[in-house]
Amino acid sequence: MKIAIMAGDGIGPEVVAQAVKVLRHVLPQAETEEAPVGLAGIETRGVPLPDETLALAKRADAILFGAVGGPDEASLPREQRPGTGLLKLRKELTLFANFRPAFMFPELIGASTLKPEIVDGLDLVILRELNGDIYFGEPRGIETGPSGERYGINTMRYTESEVERIAHAAFQAARRRRGKVCSVDKANVLETMQLWREVMTRVGREYPDVELSHLFIDAAAMTLMRAPKQFDVIVTGNMFGDILSDAAAMLTGSIGMLPSASLGLDRKGLYEPVHGSAPDIAGQDIANPLAAILSFAMLLRESLGLEDKAQEVESAVRSVLAGGYRTADIYQPGTHRVGTEEMGDAVVQALQARR
Ligand code: NAI
Ligand code: MG
Repeated sequence: MKIAIMAGDGIGPEVVAQAVKVLRHVLPQAETEEAPVGLAGIETRGVPLPDETLALAKRADAILFGAVGGPDEASLPREQRPGTGLLKLRKELTLFANFRPAFMFPELIGASTLKPEIVDGLDLVILRELNGDIYFGEPRGIETGPSGERYGINTMRYTESEVERIAHAAFQAARRRRGKVCSVDKANVLETMQLWREVMTRVGREYPDVELSHLFIDAAAMTLMRAPKQFDVIVTGNMFGDILSDAAAMLTGSIGMLPSASLGLDRKGLYEPVHGSAPDIAGQDIANPLAAILSFAMLLRESLGLEDKAQEVESAVRSVLAGGYRTADIYQPGTHRVGTEEMGDAVVQALQARR
């Protein structure tokens, strides 16, 4: 098996290095290969997604990704922005299903901004469609009208087959969990989302064992804050999913804890922490590597089919938290504050202790 390592920028290389330590421990036989992406790609090859990086992604069984981006990217043309490389990678590999679990570790309940009783036992997954929607729809751009006034335009667009495939992914995920799908749309205002709801309902009939409900995005945002435990799988489009998943991320305390998987039609996937390159804390050995390590656990489960090993890694993370180890973002008085490297080492030690 071959695992591509794309650490990227900022804290990306710091947290991915910890996940790679875990990888070496759990899968000593795995072949790994690194390639530059983001600013690292621009520095070495002039583009955020160099050809050889894309070629490696295509050959690999799975991709362990860090984060891309830096402080002055907004001034760059769109093709030169680090994030454009990641969008292109997801699109080229047809990774259309972005799973972002939000799981409340009991040890971290006090780190959430919500009351303990609201988040205790929280275990949901947001499934965000990644290849369609207003992020890719044409026409797009900034134009000048006949009066000389400029206007901006973006197009929300979904085909039936795009909605169908994400719907199947949602229902299948729910079958492996608690059997509930909540589809989030804005069908009362947007025709695209009317089609979305229609297709979700139709595909849902093929899964009579899964309970399907629908919410408008505004109500979903509210419910996520008021009573998030009622959700199991939330499936939604690219833009609503972007926003809702960041909100869900915060329910559990820190963005430094949250993994993600982007999957397509086969088992190949891209696994990355939900957080970005965090230039504000890069190079200081304070970033939380657990999101990257938990992303590697998802890689073991989804792309390699190694459920036992995935659980081993997740249990090691739990025992490290139970042992009181905390990076700065999840630190609370009375716990043991550690840096990025120490946290990675603690997880490896916990794995060793289980052998
Ligand atoms: P961010 O996620 O990088 O940082 C947000 C806040 O969370 C910062 O205060 C940061 O210090 C903190 N944080 C993030 N990860 C952490 C960790 N592992 N441990 C402790 N604290 C952590 O988001 P931001 O600041 O909006 O973006 C920074 C850069 O990252 C930008 O260039 C942005 O475009 C890029 N980005 C890249 C993503 C990706 O590669 N998938 C996703 C999101 C942002
Ligand atoms: Mg986002």
